Amino acid sequence: MTYAAIKGWGKCLPPATLTNDDLATFLDTNDQWITTRTGMKERRISHVTVSELAYVACEQALASAGKTADDVDLIVFGSTTFDELCPNAASNVQRLLGAERAACMDVNTACTSGMYSLTTATAMIKSGVVRSALVIGAEVISPIMEWDNRDVAVLFGDGAAALYLEATEEKSGVLAESLGCFGESRDILAVQGWGMKYANKARQLGDAHWNFIGQEIFKKAVAGMAHGCEATLNKLNLTAQDMSLVVPHQANLRIIDALAKKLALPTEKVFVNIEKYGNMSAATVLVAFVEALEEGLVTDNSHVLLPAFGGGLTWSAHVLYFSKAPKSKGKSAVTLPATTLSGLELVQNLMRAKASGITNKT
Ligand code: UT7
Repeated sequence: MTYAAIKGWGKCLPPATLTNDDLATFLDTNDQWITTRTGMKERRISHVTVSELAYVACEQALASAGKTADDVDLIVFGSTTFDELCPNAASNVQRLLGAERAACMDVNTACTSGMYSLTTATAMIKSGVVRSALVIGAEVISPIMEWDNRDVAVLFGDGAAALYLEATEEKSGVLAESLGCFGESRDILAVQGWGMKYANKARQLGDAHWNFIGQEIFKKAVAGMAHGCEATLNKLNLTAQDMSLVVPHQANLRIIDALAKKLALPTEKVFVNIEKYGNMSAATVLVAFVEALEEGLVTDNSHVLLPAFGGGLTWSAHVLYFSKAPKSKGKSAVTLPATTLSGLELVQNLMRAKASGITNKT
């Protein structure tokens, strides 16, 4: 039987940081509320496009796997904030990498996009369509954020991560997953003004309104991820206690705690980095998983559970297997272009552009 082994990993976090105190300079909020209600302390704001973040993460993933762009058969780009819809974002990453042989596709399932992309690439490797793939979870949500709406503006950040997958006959990588969607509740997390429905309606792209019913989303997030985890574990005849590590979507520390309680998981097995990055939507689980790998938390003979949740309302839960603790083969020298702007300055620029009705024509 063919498996899709995770041979390399990388991340790219833009350097500009937006703290809770920065948010309190232009919103009726404070560090204490954000910290106690969400667990978030700061998040990153990107000065470049989502494709550029994804490209750097992919260079890191290839270096970590000891591979080059010529080795890549497929690029699956998971995001909700693609630079363009035509041509797709994966083709931009292909060009930046010089991965000329790679097939290129975009996947959008909101915050679970990185995980649905992992499923897509794994399935294509297992079925023999391709032998290798780059899987991307990346998001630059700041340009579409409703910065004067404290219900959502405090929750999200920008970032990217990538995995390099390769066919192997050894048991490895995704063993099973469950995917689903509460489509009847799709309106409780919806961004009005973002998509073709709004084209030529005298509305600039950054002029979005977030319909975000936090408490309802919270309940669906816990229910969806718990159901997904149980379904996946049942497929494998495993229990939550058999997991060495759980890397959940990081939308709210209280959601993570509620999920851990429901699954009876000890907190030391649950990876959390929400305080540094907030919710990076499609990038969240993959950035957290990459950081868990970097910290050596994925050990010999380990099962890792990755539950995720997002707009749609989509949910997913993957179980990965590693017979040996994965080791990185190197780092790439490729980095983002530098910026002198702070997170607060980048956000102020976005707010100014929106207020003056400037549309980006480049
Ligand atoms: O990845 C996508 C999935 N997203 C999620 O899963 C998010 C799920 N939802 C949540 O994480 C939480 O519902 C939130 C963090 C969004 C909100 O937390 P909450 O505990 O549900 O707060 P709430 O909406 O019930 O609001 C409580 C109070 C309200 O004031 P009153 O009515 O009690 O006077 C809000 O107006 O907190 C107020 N509030 C704020 N105060 C300061 C809401 N947002 C803020 C804020 N700063 N940013």
